[in-house]
Amino acid sequence: MSTRVDAKPAGPEERILRGSGRACRLRVGGRIEELDELTGGAPRIVLADETVLRLHGGRLPAGPVVVVGEGEQAKTLANAERLYEELLRLEADRGTFLVGVGGGVVCDVTGFVAATYLRGLPVGFVPTTLLAQVDAAIGGKNGVNLRGFKNLVGTIRQPEFVLCDLGLLETLPPRERNNGLAEVVKHALIADPALFTFLEENAAAASALEPGVTRRLVRDSIAVKAAIVERDEREAGERRLLNFGHSFGHAIEKATGLSHGEAVSVGMAIAAGLSVERGLLPRPEAERVFRLLDALGLPRRTEADAASLFAGLRKDKKRSGSRIAFIFLERIGRGVAVELELDDLEALFSAWVRSAEGRKAWEHP
Ligand SMILES: NC(=O)c1ccc[n+]([C@@H]2O[C@H](COP(=O)([O-])OP(=O)(O)OC[C@H]3O[C@@H](n4cnc5c(N)ncnc54)[C@H](O)[C@@H]3O)[C@@H](O)[C@H]2O)c1
Ligand SMILES: [Zn+2]
Repeated sequence: MSTRVDAKPAGPEERILRGSGRACRLRVGGRIEELDELTGGAPRIVLADETVLRLHGGRLPAGPVVVVGEGEQAKTLANAERLYEELLRLEADRGTFLVGVGGGVVCDVTGFVAATYLRGLPVGFVPTTLLAQVDAAIGGKNGVNLRGFKNLVGTIRQPEFVLCDLGLLETLPPRERNNGLAEVVKHALIADPALFTFLEENAAAASALEPGVTRRLVRDSIAVKAAIVERDEREAGERRLLNFGHSFGHAIEKATGLSHGEAVSVGMAIAAGLSVERGLLPRPEAERVFRLLDALGLPRRTEADAASLFAGLRKDKKRSGSRIAFIFLERIGRGVAVELELDDLEALFSAWVRSAEGRKAWEHP
């Protein structure tokens, strides 16, 4: 059975995220050609990476463009400094709109430069990866890396708008697609059971990024993240739920060659398993999680050995001292943060690795 999806593309849908400083317009299904309307005719400088400019630059309304650089190595203070100098050269002033057009890297750097140049320029994002549309461009966090520590320097500042043009995703390579899909599954698992069911019923269309299905994934994912950010912009409580699957995910990403989304997928499978082990989640619910990851072609096993994974997790920057806020599931669509001693989490993890489900997860086919 599959939920019917309209073949005819609907018009854009907009939702406002009310952050502390300002209201951010989140538009899904709009087109990049609408930029002028969103920047209200203000002078504008686009920041983008070369791949996006090559593939989609022809669709950008006329105006100056600055190349950000590509990949994590572009998220540095040195690169931010180079971009400040470009802004100086282009005579950007406090009325100039910066617009980041690209993946999470471009959005993070543009948001950081906009927050700091002249103590703050208006900024908007046109996210071009699924991960950036459903996650990185939403919520106001921006930043750069320092000495191998990700996002060590940055601010929380909502953009004026986020414009999700679904047509931009047509050129996305499959691996980038999986990065975004994993975060969509995360949003469904922590807060949206209906989105989870929709994913179950449309898994093949979701992994192919069929347009009608993608629109719903993006819209509903944004709704989950925006609602959480509105209630807890500075991550004092509920925003921690967005870390679901990421404690083990980050350790797996570091220890293996898996991409962020693939590592998070394995991390979510482990977290679902640990939720059963702790008596929080009924086993059949965890099995639904495993089946969905399989159906989407997302991994839930890793080559890394359990001991080194746990060592990696102990270095997680989200822990405080010997304790960690680990995100479990109480049911599909309901995450819960539990503060526990790392030693207790390790004991739970060891028990799960020895359990039937855990053994299955660590058997390498
Ligand atoms: N600020 C936040 O809240 C937040 C949340 C999650 C992730 N992030 C950050 O996001 C970054 C990852 O973002 P990402 O996964 O988008 O990676 P990315 O920005 O590096 O983009 C991945 C690759 O896809 C290419 N690309 C972009 N759009 C494309 C398109 N439409 N077609 C074809 N290729 C395209 C890019 O050029 C790049 O090579 C990380 O630095 C991470 O820390 C931030
Ligand atoms: Zn992530």
